[in-house]
Amino acid sequence: MEFQNYINGKWIEGRSKFQTINPANEELLAEIAQAERSDVDSAVVAATEAFKSWRLVPAPLRGELLFKIGDILKQKKEQLARLLTQDMGKVISEARGDVQEAIDMAYFMGGEGRRLLGYTAPVEMPNKFGMAVRDPAGVVGLITPWNFPIAVPSWKIFPALVAGNTVIWKPSPETPAISAAFVKVFEEAGLPAGVFNLILAPGVEVAKALVSHPGVRVLSFTGSTPTGRSIGETAARLNKKVSLEMGGKNAIIVMDDASVELVTDATLWAAFGTTGQRCTAASRLIVQKGIAGRVKESLVERTKKLRLGDGLDPKVEIGPLINKAALDRIDNFVQIGQKEGARALVGASVADINGKGFFYSPTLFDGVQPGSTLEAEEIFGPVLSIIEVRSLEEAIEVNNRSQYGLSTSIFTQDVNRAFTAMRDIFSGLVYINHGTTGAEIQFPFGGVRGTGNGHREAGQAALEVFTEWKSIYVDYSGKLQRAQIDNREEEM
Ligand code: UN1
Repeated sequence: MEFQNYINGKWIEGRSKFQTINPANEELLAEIAQAERSDVDSAVVAATEAFKSWRLVPAPLRGELLFKIGDILKQKKEQLARLLTQDMGKVISEARGDVQEAIDMAYFMGGEGRRLLGYTAPVEMPNKFGMAVRDPAGVVGLITPWNFPIAVPSWKIFPALVAGNTVIWKPSPETPAISAAFVKVFEEAGLPAGVFNLILAPGVEVAKALVSHPGVRVLSFTGSTPTGRSIGETAARLNKKVSLEMGGKNAIIVMDDASVELVTDATLWAAFGTTGQRCTAASRLIVQKGIAGRVKESLVERTKKLRLGDGLDPKVEIGPLINKAALDRIDNFVQIGQKEGARALVGASVADINGKGFFYSPTLFDGVQPGSTLEAEEIFGPVLSIIEVRSLEEAIEVNNRSQYGLSTSIFTQDVNRAFTAMRDIFSGLVYINHGTTGAEIQFPFGGVRGTGNGHREAGQAALEVFTEWKSIYVDYSGKLQRAQIDNREEEM
């Protein structure tokens, strides 16, 4: 297979190529035309030109194009899901979910074409009218990770497009094949040239060119904390609007009254689903002492039974990690954890699946100490740290002391505890009797503290990132009316 960059409605070859491999078997999946800095310049020129007319397309019609994209995604769901599994490694049922999230977002944001709600408010002068409307921001640059190669980009692309922006998308070089296949859907739907451009390149140079380009008004990034911080710094210097979605250290809190069976099912899914490579993956299990023994026993038994392998095999539950560097990083975290005194109950080793691929055994650590590396750092792999606590208050304190604040869940049958947790957990996402993963697209998505810079994706909140408010005053009195002054004369 071969894929190219997509600029101004054309598929563009590069001077050189890079490769993408299937992480389950290390075989070559596709050759990719490598973009250069000059391609970013061309994409900005194309997007700037396209913006002139795209912003004037009535929003309901832009929305209808999104519906069409949603329809094509539905038809191609299986085909895209299979390519996604081969490019990224997640098991096929999850790959289908990844595509489904994009379908959901296409339809949700398509509907925004008939809302994009602004508001009117009374004004203080007679014969005058006031309203606030949403304007598109302009050319937006999107930088997205490999772990949800279709869903996460959709959270950015669809709101950006429906609001009338034009887009330059730089997906992770780990998943270029599925990214290009996704763009083909937009092309098939008939999106005008230059409205949506794709830049594929490994390394940082091309990404930096996009981030620092003066023609790009908004940046939206999902990925690692160091990269996000550096994008934030550049954006601040260049006065760009920037939305950052970065690390997580998500926790499941288990109270003594919880169902061990439900906690086990939910924890295995939240911690080891997507091989722990979700920004919402549970990586701490904060469990009350009275139930801790039973929960651990049940988790160990079920973890041992998880089937690792190629995600295209429907019986496989855990796919590979994205690459060798991830495998080494996770193994390194595990070794640090052991040196710091945590005890591995199961896993803690590279897994051999026919001698190929980047597999790591799902790992449970007991006796994880406050302040230790396992307790504090995002691992982004199938490693769950168990921390015992005495009370709800202590559990919430442990949750909230993390440098991150994306997703937290609590298992309890007690309505008073559940409501206390909803109030006192400082995370962007809170789940009651459900794991930490599985957010739906109609609600705001994002986190507090080190997870993000205060913006939210998904839901109508996403529109805040991709629109500028314009306040409009219409004076139809035919004379000068000075606000704050002329209607106060009787007070003199
Ligand atoms: C991510 O890992 O970056 O809530 C996104 C979830 C998914 C999205 C995760 N719907 O787990």
